[in-house]
Amino acid sequence: QKIAIGSAHGKLILTGEHAAVYGMPAIAIPFPLVKAVSTVEKIPDELMISCEYYDGSLDQVPDKLKGIRACIYETLKVLNKPQKGLWIRLNTSIPIGRGLGSSAAIAIAVVKSLFSFYRQTLSHKVLMSLVHIAETFAHGNPSGIDMEAASSHFPIWFQKGERVKPLQIGRTLFIVVADTGRIGDTRRAVSIVKENYQLKPVMTKKSIRQLGSISLEAKKALITGNVDVLGSLIDLAHTELSQLGVSDKGIDKLVDVARKEGALGAKLTGGGKGGCMIALAQNLSQAKEMANALMKEGARNAWYFKLKRDKNF
Ligand code: MEV
Repeated sequence: QKIAIGSAHGKLILTGEHAAVYGMPAIAIPFPLVKAVSTVEKIPDELMISCEYYDGSLDQVPDKLKGIRACIYETLKVLNKPQKGLWIRLNTSIPIGRGLGSSAAIAIAVVKSLFSFYRQTLSHKVLMSLVHIAETFAHGNPSGIDMEAASSHFPIWFQKGERVKPLQIGRTLFIVVADTGRIGDTRRAVSIVKENYQLKPVMTKKSIRQLGSISLEAKKALITGNVDVLGSLIDLAHTELSQLGVSDKGIDKLVDVARKEGALGAKLTGGGKGGCMIALAQNLSQAKEMANALMKEGARNAWYFKLKRDKNF
C-alpha cells in the first residue's frame, strides 16, 4: 500500500475533569465538529513527519512532538516494521491545548493510519496502550479519559482503571462550545489541583468528591433526558472546578455570557486555566444565538451542535 489515512475527532468533558485523575467518575462526549487526520505515505528511506510547525526527520522533532514520536516508534515496533520509508503528515482542526483532546486525537489518528498502511487490524486495547505513550508526554499523569472520548462515537462513562461504558442518552442535547483563545496548560492545571490537595486537603478532597457525585447525578439526568437537572449539575461542576483553582477570568466571562443567553448550564471543559467552556442550550436556535453572543464577547471561536440520541456520525 502506498498511502493510508487515519482520523479522530475531538472530545468534550461534560462532568468530572480533574476529579477523574483521583479516581472519580466522569462523563465525556465526542466533539464531531473538529478532527485530526494523519496521512502515511511510502517514501524511499527516511522517517519524516510534517505538521503546521515542523517538517523534517522524526529523529529531530521539537519537544512538542516528542510524545507523538515515542508513540510512532512503539507502533512500528508492535507492527514489526522498520523505522524508515514513511512520511507521516498531520492535519488538525482541533485547536491545540484548549481542552478539546487534540493531543489524544492526533495520536489516535497516527496509530490508526500506521495500522491501516500495513493493513493490520487494530484492537481498541492496543490503540489505547499506544496512545497512552503520547498522552503521558502531553499531560504527565493522564487519567485516560481524553483518549477514550476521542475514540468513542458515543458519550462515555469513565472511571480510571475501569471499563469504559457507552452512555445511551435519553434526549437530543444542544451543545455550545467556546474557545477563550488562550492555551490551557492541562499539565499545569493538574499540578495546581495536586498542590491544593496538599495545601488545602479538606476543601480539595471535598470538591473532588462533590465532582464525582455530580457525575453520578448527571449520568441519571443524561439517561432520562432531564436536561434541566443536567444543566444545574453543569453549573455546579463549574463552581467546584473554580474552587479547585482551574478556572480563570476568561472562562468565567464566557460562562456568564452563556448563562445570560439562557443556557441550562455552563462550565469550563477539559483542563481549564485557559482553553474552552461548554454550555447546554435548550434548542438549536438558542445554541446558534449563544455561539454568536460568545463570539461577540471575545471568544476566539464558538461551535454548536446536536448530540443525537442514537447516531452521531
Ligand atoms: C483533561 O481533558 C482532563 C483532566 O481530568 C486530566 C485527565 O483526566 O487526564 C484535567
